[in-house]
Amino acid sequence: MYRRFIKPLLFLMPAERAHRIAFGLLRALMALPFVAALVRRWASRGVPPLTTRALGLEFPNPILLAAGFDKNAEGFEALGALGFGGVEVGTVTAEGQPGNPLPRLFRLPADRALVNRMGFNNDGVERVAERLARPRRTLVGVNLGKTRKVDDEHAIEDYVKSALRVGPYADYVVVNVSSPNTPGLRGLQATERLRPLLLAVREALTQARPERPPALLVKIAPDLGEDAILAIGDMALEIGLDGIIATNTTTSREELRTDARSLEAIGAGGLSGAPLKAKSLTVLELLRARVHDRVVLIAAGGIETEDDVWDRIRAGATLVQVYTSFVYEGPGLPRKLAKGLADRLSAYCTTLEEAVGSGRSFDPRSVRSSRPPSAA
Ligand SMILES: Cc1cc2nc3c(=O)[nH]c(=O)nc-3n(C[C@H](O)[C@H](O)[C@H](O)COP(=O)(O)O)c2cc1C
Repeated sequence: MYRRFIKPLLFLMPAERAHRIAFGLLRALMALPFVAALVRRWASRGVPPLTTRALGLEFPNPILLAAGFDKNAEGFEALGALGFGGVEVGTVTAEGQPGNPLPRLFRLPADRALVNRMGFNNDGVERVAERLARPRRTLVGVNLGKTRKVDDEHAIEDYVKSALRVGPYADYVVVNVSSPNTPGLRGLQATERLRPLLLAVREALTQARPERPPALLVKIAPDLGEDAILAIGDMALEIGLDGIIATNTTTSREELRTDARSLEAIGAGGLSGAPLKAKSLTVLELLRARVHDRVVLIAAGGIETEDDVWDRIRAGATLVQVYTSFVYEGPGLPRKLAKGLADRLSAYCTTLEEAVGSGRSFDPRSVRSSRPPSAA
Protein backbone atom coordinates (compact mmCIF):
# COMPACT_ATOMS: atom_id res chain seq x y z
CA MET A 1 0.00 0.00 0.00
CA TYR A 2 2.84 2.38 0.87
CA ARG A 3 4.58 1.85 -2.46
CA ARG A 4 1.42 2.05 -4.56
CA PHE A 5 -0.48 4.89 -2.89
CA ILE A 6 1.45 6.74 -0.20
CA LYS A 7 4.94 6.93 -1.68
CA PRO A 8 3.81 8.44 -5.02
CA LEU A 9 2.07 11.21 -3.08
CA LEU A 10 5.01 11.81 -0.77
CA PHE A 11 7.42 11.79 -3.70
CA LEU A 12 5.49 14.70 -5.27
CA MET A 13 6.68 16.87 -2.40
CA PRO A 14 10.17 18.14 -1.63
CA ALA A 15 11.96 15.35 0.26
CA GLU A 16 12.31 17.07 3.62
CA ARG A 17 8.66 18.18 3.69
CA ALA A 18 7.57 14.65 2.81
CA HIS A 19 9.66 13.32 5.70
CA ARG A 20 8.11 15.82 8.12
CA ILE A 21 4.56 15.01 7.01
CA ALA A 22 5.01 11.21 6.94
CA PHE A 23 6.79 11.11 10.29
CA GLY A 24 4.23 13.50 11.83
CA LEU A 25 1.36 11.33 10.60
CA LEU A 26 2.97 8.17 11.90
CA ARG A 27 3.43 9.75 15.34
CA ALA A 28 -0.14 11.09 15.40
CA LEU A 29 -1.57 7.68 14.49
CA MET A 30 0.60 5.82 16.98
CA ALA A 31 -0.47 8.19 19.75
CA LEU A 32 -3.84 6.38 19.56
CA PRO A 33 -3.32 3.32 21.80
CA PHE A 34 -5.56 0.99 19.77
CA VAL A 35 -3.75 1.89 16.52
CA ALA A 36 -0.36 1.35 18.17
CA ALA A 37 -1.50 -2.04 19.52
CA LEU A 38 -2.82 -3.09 16.09
CA VAL A 39 0.37 -2.00 14.34
CA ARG A 40 2.55 -3.79 16.89
CA ARG A 41 0.57 -6.96 16.36
CA TRP A 42 0.79 -6.64 12.55
CA ALA A 43 4.55 -5.93 12.70
CA SER A 44 5.30 -9.03 14.72
CA ARG A 45 2.84 -11.39 12.97
CA GLY A 46 4.65 -14.35 11.46
CA VAL A 47 8.07 -13.15 12.64
CA PRO A 48 9.75 -15.63 14.99
CA PRO A 49 11.72 -14.12 17.88
CA LEU A 50 15.17 -12.88 16.80
CA THR A 51 16.43 -11.76 20.18
CA THR A 52 19.92 -10.38 19.74
CA ARG A 53 22.22 -9.96 22.72
CA ALA A 54 24.80 -7.25 22.09
CA LEU A 55 26.25 -4.19 23.83
CA GLY A 56 24.88 -5.45 27.14
CA LEU A 57 21.35 -5.20 25.73
CA GLU A 58 18.68 -7.53 24.44
CA PHE A 59 17.39 -6.29 21.08
CA PRO A 60 14.09 -7.90 20.00
CA ASN A 61 15.63 -8.26 16.53
CA PRO A 62 18.83 -7.00 14.86
CA ILE A 63 17.14 -4.63 12.36
CA LEU A 64 17.59 -1.08 13.64
CA LEU A 65 16.69 2.34 12.27
CA ALA A 66 19.83 4.37 11.52
CA ALA A 67 20.55 7.85 12.86
CA GLY A 68 19.10 10.90 11.16
CA PHE A 69 15.47 9.81 10.78
CA ASP A 70 14.39 10.73 14.33
CA LYS A 71 16.95 13.43 15.04
CA ASN A 72 15.13 14.82 18.06
CA ALA A 73 13.89 11.64 19.72
CA GLU A 74 10.27 12.53 19.01
CA GLY A 75 9.02 9.29 17.50
CA PHE A 76 11.14 6.34 18.53
CA GLU A 77 8.18 4.51 20.10
CA ALA A 78 6.14 4.85 16.90
CA LEU A 79 9.11 3.58 14.89
CA GLY A 80 9.72 0.76 17.36
CA ALA A 81 6.09 -0.31 16.94
CA LEU A 82 6.74 -0.86 13.22
CA GLY A 83 9.10 -3.66 14.19
CA PHE A 84 12.52 -2.09 14.42
CA GLY A 85 14.68 -3.81 17.02
CA GLY A 86 15.88 -0.38 18.14
CA VAL A 87 16.09 3.22 16.99
CA GLU A 88 19.19 5.39 16.91
CA VAL A 89 18.15 8.99 17.55
CA GLY A 90 20.18 12.07 16.62
CA THR A 91 22.60 13.25 15.56
CA VAL A 92 22.22 15.43 18.64
CA THR A 93 24.61 18.29 19.39
CA ALA A 94 25.30 19.99 22.71
CA GLU A 95 23.51 23.12 21.50
CA GLY A 96 20.45 23.18 19.27
CA GLN A 97 21.11 24.41 15.72
CA PRO A 98 19.13 24.95 12.49
CA GLY A 99 21.43 23.03 10.13
CA ASN A 100 22.11 24.03 6.55
CA PRO A 101 19.80 26.17 4.40
CA LEU A 102 17.01 24.39 2.46
CA PRO A 103 16.84 22.51 0.16
CA ARG A 104 19.20 19.99 1.76
CA LEU A 105 17.65 16.59 1.08
CA PHE A 106 17.30 15.11 -2.42
CA ARG A 107 16.01 11.88 -3.93
CA LEU A 108 17.83 9.94 -6.63
CA PRO A 109 15.09 7.44 -7.55
CA ALA A 110 17.05 5.95 -10.48
CA ASP A 111 19.69 4.92 -7.94
CA ARG A 112 17.38 4.16 -4.99
CA ALA A 113 19.47 6.73 -3.17
CA LEU A 114 19.34 10.03 -1.29
CA VAL A 115 21.74 12.92 -0.97
CA ASN A 116 21.59 14.99 2.20
CA ARG A 117 23.44 17.94 3.60
CA MET A 118 21.22 18.47 6.62
CA GLY A 119 24.12 19.68 8.78
CA PHE A 120 22.98 18.30 12.15
CA ASN A 121 19.72 20.27 12.44
CA ASN A 122 18.45 19.37 15.93
CA ASP A 123 16.88 20.71 19.11
CA GLY A 124 20.03 20.24 21.19
CA VAL A 125 20.91 17.74 23.88
CA GLU A 126 18.83 19.36 26.62
CA ARG A 127 15.50 18.88 24.84
CA VAL A 128 16.43 15.42 23.59
CA ALA A 129 17.48 14.26 27.08
CA GLU A 130 14.10 15.41 28.47
CA ARG A 131 12.31 13.25 25.86
CA LEU A 132 14.51 10.26 26.65
CA ALA A 133 13.97 10.54 30.39
CA ARG A 134 10.40 9.20 30.13
CA PRO A 135 9.80 5.47 30.50
CA ARG A 136 10.00 3.68 27.14
CA ARG A 137 9.73 0.23 25.58
CA THR A 138 11.93 0.77 22.50
CA LEU A 139 15.71 0.46 22.76
CA VAL A 140 17.28 3.80 21.89
CA GLY A 141 20.85 4.58 20.88
CA VAL A 142 21.88 8.24 20.94
CA ASN A 143 24.14 9.52 18.18
CA LEU A 144 26.25 12.53 19.21
CA GLY A 145 27.88 15.12 16.97
CA LYS A 146 29.83 18.35 17.30
CA THR A 147 27.99 21.66 17.52
CA ARG A 148 28.85 23.51 14.32
CA LYS A 149 29.98 26.78 15.90
CA VAL A 150 32.36 25.01 18.31
CA ASP A 151 35.86 24.94 16.87
CA ASP A 152 37.90 21.77 16.50
CA GLU A 153 40.02 22.58 19.56
CA HIS A 154 36.97 22.41 21.81
CA ALA A 155 35.34 19.42 20.13
CA ILE A 156 36.01 17.05 23.04
CA GLU A 157 34.34 19.35 25.59
CA ASP A 158 31.35 19.66 23.28
CA TYR A 159 30.87 15.88 22.91
CA VAL A 160 31.46 15.40 26.66
CA LYS A 161 28.72 17.90 27.47
CA SER A 162 26.25 15.89 25.38
CA ALA A 163 27.43 12.56 26.79
CA LEU A 164 26.95 13.73 30.38
CA ARG A 165 23.40 14.81 29.58
CA VAL A 166 22.20 11.70 27.70
CA GLY A 167 24.34 9.18 29.60
CA PRO A 168 21.67 8.37 32.19
CA TYR A 169 19.05 7.53 29.53
CA ALA A 170 20.74 6.16 26.40
CA ASP A 171 20.85 2.40 25.79
CA TYR A 172 23.99 3.00 23.77
CA VAL A 173 25.88 6.09 22.64
CA VAL A 174 27.52 6.71 19.26
CA VAL A 175 30.26 9.23 18.62
CA ASN A 176 29.60 10.43 15.08
CA VAL A 177 32.79 11.64 13.41
CA SER A 178 31.76 10.74 9.89
CA SER A 179 29.11 13.16 8.66
CA PRO A 180 30.36 14.99 5.56
CA ASN A 181 28.14 17.99 6.34
CA THR A 182 29.93 19.55 9.32
CA PRO A 183 33.21 21.10 8.20
CA GLY A 184 36.26 19.38 9.71
CA LEU A 185 34.26 16.68 11.49
CA ARG A 186 35.70 13.74 9.59
CA GLY A 187 39.21 14.84 10.59
CA LEU A 188 38.32 13.47 14.04
CA GLN A 189 38.53 9.96 12.58
CA ALA A 190 42.35 10.11 12.70
CA THR A 191 43.18 7.82 15.60
CA GLU A 192 45.41 10.36 17.38
CA ARG A 193 42.32 12.59 17.63
CA LEU A 194 39.71 9.85 17.96
CA ARG A 195 41.35 8.03 20.89
CA PRO A 196 41.26 10.99 23.35
CA LEU A 197 37.76 11.89 22.18
CA LEU A 198 36.38 8.39 22.82
CA LEU A 199 38.19 8.07 26.15
CA ALA A 200 36.75 11.39 27.31
CA VAL A 201 33.23 10.46 26.21
CA ARG A 202 33.51 7.11 27.94
CA GLU A 203 34.58 8.80 31.14
CA ALA A 204 31.60 11.15 30.87
CA LEU A 205 29.23 8.20 30.38
CA THR A 206 30.69 6.48 33.45
CA GLN A 207 30.23 9.66 35.42
CA ALA A 208 26.66 10.03 34.15
CA ARG A 209 25.69 6.45 35.02
CA PRO A 210 28.35 4.87 37.26
CA GLU A 211 26.37 1.70 38.03
CA ARG A 212 26.06 0.63 34.38
CA PRO A 213 27.38 3.06 31.75
CA PRO A 214 25.84 2.78 28.28
CA ALA A 215 27.90 1.06 25.57
CA LEU A 216 30.05 3.35 23.47
CA LEU A 217 30.44 3.10 19.69
CA VAL A 218 31.98 5.15 16.91
CA LYS A 219 30.42 5.66 13.48
CA ILE A 220 32.82 5.87 10.58
CA ALA A 221 32.75 7.00 6.95
CA PRO A 222 32.91 4.68 3.94
CA ASP A 223 35.47 6.94 2.29
CA LEU A 224 38.38 6.11 4.62
CA GLY A 225 41.41 4.33 3.21
CA GLU A 226 42.17 0.76 4.20
CA ASP A 227 44.95 1.80 6.60
CA ALA A 228 42.70 4.28 8.38
CA ILE A 229 39.96 1.66 8.78
CA LEU A 230 42.37 -0.91 10.18
CA ALA A 231 43.87 1.71 12.51
CA ILE A 232 40.40 2.40 13.91
CA GLY A 233 39.91 -1.35 14.39
CA ASP A 234 43.21 -1.57 16.28
CA MET A 235 42.36 1.42 18.41
CA ALA A 236 38.95 -0.04 19.22
CA LEU A 237 40.63 -3.20 20.49
CA GLU A 238 43.24 -1.23 22.42
CA ILE A 239 40.78 0.95 24.33
CA GLY A 240 38.08 -1.73 24.62
CA LEU A 241 35.50 0.16 22.58
CA ASP A 242 32.13 -1.58 22.54
CA GLY A 243 31.30 -1.18 18.88
CA ILE A 244 31.77 0.40 15.47
CA ILE A 245 29.05 1.45 13.02
CA ALA A 246 30.10 1.00 9.40
CA THR A 247 29.12 3.24 7.66
CA ASN A 248 27.83 6.76 7.30
CA THR A 249 27.08 8.34 3.88
CA THR A 250 29.68 8.79 1.13
CA THR A 251 30.84 11.94 -0.65
CA SER A 252 31.52 9.86 -3.78
CA ARG A 253 29.24 10.16 -6.83
CA GLU A 254 30.75 7.27 -8.75
CA GLU A 255 28.74 4.80 -10.81
CA LEU A 256 25.38 6.51 -10.50
CA ARG A 257 22.54 6.29 -13.00
CA THR A 258 21.37 9.80 -12.17
CA ASP A 259 22.77 12.12 -14.83
CA ALA A 260 25.71 14.43 -14.18
CA ARG A 261 23.65 17.59 -14.63
CA SER A 262 21.12 16.59 -11.97
CA LEU A 263 23.95 15.65 -9.61
CA GLU A 264 25.56 19.01 -10.15
CA ALA A 265 22.26 20.80 -9.46
CA ILE A 266 21.90 18.86 -6.20
CA GLY A 267 25.40 19.79 -5.08
CA ALA A 268 27.35 18.67 -2.01
CA GLY A 269 26.18 16.18 0.59
CA GLY A 270 26.32 12.59 1.73
CA LEU A 271 25.02 9.91 -0.64
CA SER A 272 23.10 7.01 0.91
CA GLY A 273 21.20 3.98 -0.32
CA ALA A 274 21.92 1.32 -2.95
CA PRO A 275 25.10 2.87 -4.41
CA LEU A 276 26.72 2.64 -0.96
CA LYS A 277 26.17 -1.10 -0.62
CA ALA A 278 29.49 -2.47 -1.85
CA LYS A 279 31.60 0.19 -0.15
CA SER A 280 29.98 -0.26 3.27
CA LEU A 281 30.28 -4.02 3.01
CA THR A 282 34.00 -3.74 2.25
CA VAL A 283 34.54 -1.54 5.30
CA LEU A 284 32.67 -4.06 7.42
CA GLU A 285 34.75 -6.96 6.08
CA LEU A 286 37.99 -5.12 6.78
CA LEU A 287 36.91 -4.36 10.33
CA ARG A 288 35.77 -7.91 10.98
CA ALA A 289 39.10 -9.25 9.74
CA ARG A 290 40.80 -7.01 12.31
CA VAL A 291 38.56 -7.16 15.38
CA HIS A 292 36.84 -10.58 14.91
CA ASP A 293 34.16 -10.86 17.57
CA ARG A 294 35.87 -8.64 20.13
CA VAL A 295 34.11 -5.44 19.02
CA VAL A 296 30.43 -5.37 18.06
CA LEU A 297 30.00 -4.31 14.44
CA ILE A 298 26.84 -2.60 13.23
CA ALA A 299 26.36 -2.50 9.46
CA ALA A 300 24.73 0.47 7.70
CA GLY A 301 24.79 1.62 4.09
CA GLY A 302 22.64 0.37 1.23
CA ILE A 303 20.86 -2.37 3.15
CA GLU A 304 17.61 -2.88 1.22
CA THR A 305 16.75 -6.57 1.07
CA GLU A 306 16.74 -9.74 3.14
CA ASP A 307 19.87 -10.83 1.25
CA ASP A 308 21.65 -7.60 2.17
CA VAL A 309 20.88 -8.26 5.85
CA TRP A 310 22.13 -11.81 5.51
CA ASP A 311 25.33 -10.69 3.72
CA ARG A 312 26.16 -8.17 6.44
CA ILE A 313 25.51 -10.63 9.24
CA ARG A 314 27.72 -13.25 7.60
CA ALA A 315 30.36 -10.57 7.04
CA GLY A 316 30.44 -9.93 10.80
CA ALA A 317 27.64 -7.52 11.70
CA THR A 318 25.72 -8.37 14.86
CA LEU A 319 23.17 -5.65 14.13
CA VAL A 320 22.19 -3.82 10.95
CA GLN A 321 20.72 -0.38 10.35
CA VAL A 322 18.60 1.00 7.52
CA TYR A 323 17.55 4.49 6.51
CA THR A 324 17.24 5.11 2.75
CA SER A 325 15.48 1.82 1.97
CA PHE A 326 12.90 2.67 4.67
CA VAL A 327 12.09 5.84 2.69
CA TYR A 328 11.73 3.86 -0.54
CA GLU A 329 10.03 0.75 0.86
CA GLY A 330 7.93 2.14 3.70
CA PRO A 331 6.70 0.93 7.08
CA GLY A 332 6.57 -2.76 6.10
CA LEU A 333 10.36 -2.90 5.71
CA PRO A 334 11.50 -3.87 9.23
CA ARG A 335 8.99 -6.73 9.34
CA LYS A 336 9.97 -7.94 5.86
CA LEU A 337 13.69 -7.90 6.73
CA ALA A 338 13.18 -9.63 10.08
CA LYS A 339 11.05 -12.30 8.45
CA GLY A 340 13.61 -12.83 5.70
CA LEU A 341 16.36 -13.20 8.27
CA ALA A 342 14.35 -15.72 10.29
CA ASP A 343 13.70 -17.70 7.09
CA ARG A 344 17.41 -17.83 6.26
CA LEU A 345 18.34 -18.88 9.79
CA SER A 346 15.86 -21.73 9.68
CA ALA A 347 16.83 -22.74 6.10
CA TYR A 348 20.48 -22.96 7.13
CA CYS A 349 19.67 -24.54 10.52
CA THR A 350 21.73 -21.99 12.32
CA THR A 351 21.36 -19.39 15.05
CA LEU A 352 21.96 -15.69 14.73
CA GLU A 353 25.09 -15.96 16.90
CA GLU A 354 26.51 -18.66 14.64
CA ALA A 355 25.67 -16.76 11.47
CA VAL A 356 27.54 -13.60 12.56
CA GLY A 357 30.88 -13.58 10.73
CA SER A 358 30.35 -17.04 9.30
CA GLY A 359 31.74 -15.76 5.99
CA ARG A 360 30.46 -14.58 2.66
CA SER A 361 31.02 -17.98 1.10
CA PHE A 362 28.73 -19.47 3.71
CA ASP A 363 28.07 -23.12 2.97
CA PRO A 364 24.88 -24.34 4.66
CA ARG A 365 26.10 -27.96 4.49
CA SER A 366 29.05 -27.13 6.73
CA VAL A 367 26.69 -25.87 9.39
CA ARG A 368 24.40 -28.85 9.09
CA SER A 369 27.21 -31.37 9.21
CA SER A 370 28.80 -29.76 12.26
CA ARG A 371 25.77 -30.23 14.46
CA PRO A 372 23.20 -32.97 14.86
CA PRO A 373 19.87 -32.28 13.13
CA SER A 374 18.04 -32.35 16.45
CA ALA A 375 20.05 -29.32 17.62
CA ALA A 376 18.74 -27.21 14.75
C1 LIG B 1 18.48 12.33 5.41
C2 LIG B 1 19.55 11.64 6.16
C3 LIG B 1 19.98 12.16 7.36
C4 LIG B 1 20.99 11.51 8.06
N1 LIG B 1 21.40 12.03 9.26
C5 LIG B 1 22.34 11.39 9.97
C6 LIG B 1 22.74 11.87 11.23
O1 LIG B 1 22.22 12.88 11.72
N2 LIG B 1 23.71 11.20 11.89
C7 LIG B 1 24.30 10.07 11.40
O2 LIG B 1 25.17 9.49 12.05
N3 LIG B 1 23.91 9.58 10.21
C8 LIG B 1 22.97 10.20 9.49
N4 LIG B 1 22.58 9.70 8.29
C9 LIG B 1 23.26 8.49 7.77
C10 LIG B 1 22.48 7.22 8.08
O3 LIG B 1 22.36 7.03 9.46
C11 LIG B 1 23.19 6.00 7.46
O4 LIG B 1 24.44 5.80 8.09
C12 LIG B 1 23.41 6.17 5.97
O5 LIG B 1 22.33 6.82 5.35
C13 LIG B 1 23.66 4.82 5.27
O6 LIG B 1 22.54 3.98 5.42
P1 LIG B 1 21.40 3.84 4.26
O7 LIG B 1 22.12 3.58 2.98
O8 LIG B 1 20.54 2.71 4.73
O9 LIG B 1 20.66 5.13 4.22
C14 LIG B 1 21.58 10.33 7.56
C15 LIG B 1 21.13 9.80 6.35
C16 LIG B 1 20.12 10.43 5.65
C17 LIG B 1 19.64 9.84 4.35
